[in-house]
Order: sequence, then C-alpha cells, then structure tokens
Amino acid sequence: MVSEAVRNLRTSILMSNPNQDKKVIMLTSSIPKEGKTILTYALAQNMVGLDKRILLIEADIRRRVHSVKIDRNNTVALLDLMMGHKEFKDVNPFVEELGFDILTATSSDMNAADLFASERFPKLLTELRENYDYILIDSPPILSVPDARLISAVSDINIYIVKWNKTTRAQVEQGLNMISSIRAPKQLD
Ligand SMILES: Nc1ncnc2c1ncn2[C@@H]1O[C@H](COP(=O)(O)OP(=O)(O)O)[C@@H](O)[C@H]1O
Ligand SMILES: [Mg+2]
Repeated sequence: MVSEAVRNLRTSILMSNPNQDKKVIMLTSSIPKEGKTILTYALAQNMVGLDKRILLIEADIRRRVHSVKIDRNNTVALLDLMMGHKEFKDVNPFVEELGFDILTATSSDMNAADLFASERFPKLLTELRENYDYILIDSPPILSVPDARLISAVSDINIYIVKWNKTTRAQVEQGLNMISSIRAPKQLD
C-alpha cells in the first residue's frame, strides 16, 4: 500500500537523521512520470502529522501540467522568491487544503538550469532552512535536465525513485552517478 510505503520512507529518513540536522530532502528519478510529485506530496502530508514545520518546493518548473491539482491562484511562487520579486518574510506559503507550506512552480522565460545554477537557489534555501524542520523538493527527472543535479548539491538527503518494472538498471545507474552525494534509501517502488 502506498501509505505504508510512505510511512516506511519517513521512518528511514528519520532514522538516518537522529540529530535532525539534515532537513533538505530532494526527490528525483530517472525520467518523467515515475511518481516524484505524488510521492513528495504524500511524504509532506505524512510528515505534517509529526508536528514539524514542513515546506514543499515544486522545483520542476518546466512542467506545464501539474499532477497535484490545487488552486494555485493565491500561492507563493518559487520563482518570485528566487528572483527577489518578493521576500520570504512578506509571504505566507501555507495552503489550507494541503495543511502545509508550499512554493509553487510557475513557468519562466529564464532557463531553468541557469536559475538553479545561480546563487539564487542556495541563497534562498539558506533562509528557508531557518524557518522549517523539513524542506521537501520535488525535482525534475535527472536524466532529462541538469536541474536535479544542481539541487542535489545543496540538499542533505537525496531520494531516488525507481518505477517498478519500468525504470531500467542502466537508467538508475546513470542517474545515481549524476547525483553528487547519495545518502538516502536507494530502493522504492
Ligand atoms: N504509486 C503510484 N501508483 C499509481 N499511480 C501513480 C503512482 N505514483 C504516481 N502515479 C501516477 O503517475 C502519474 C505521474 O506521477 P507524477 O508524480 O506526476 O510523476 P513525476 O513527478 O515523476 O513526473 C500521475 O498521473 C500519478 O497519478
Ligand atoms: Mg513531477
């Protein structure tokens, strides 16, 4: 069952992190449509139950179609904070229907890889770290674009999702090699 798998994953994260000093968790996978977004949301939902301050970042800003349907009209856009259009201290990222904070993906004229390669993302993350217990980053597929590689360099835990009977061994090996540091559970279906 999915809820059981999510609970197990949460337990693995907590056990690998006894001092709670690892708080930025990136989720990625080899290619699109392997369940990254769904799992990131499920994990966030689950961790809210621990009474922790949770932030979910939608970092797959190239995707036009969102698999999680929420009303995005009054949400806080990741790009607005990254570009300095808004300050974190002035916004309220809480989304009532989810029960946790979220920075949403909106499309940009700028190249996504350039954005994540710039100092903007690490700088924002430094500020966010002070305000949350856990920050979950829903990332683009690692074999398609460089973004997830760049994000993995500034995250504490990287979770690599494998779609059972679908993702090939070669894809997984290639993807894992691209991640700068791998300290997370390597198996999940
Ligand atoms: N564990 C799962 N079981 C069944 N369907 C799933 C599961 N995870 C994802 N999906 C479905 O697969 C599609 C892609 O999921 P998504 O999380 O958006 O993938 P990604 O973020 O990797 O592109 C969605 O339609 C979603 O409903
Ligand atoms: Mg996704």
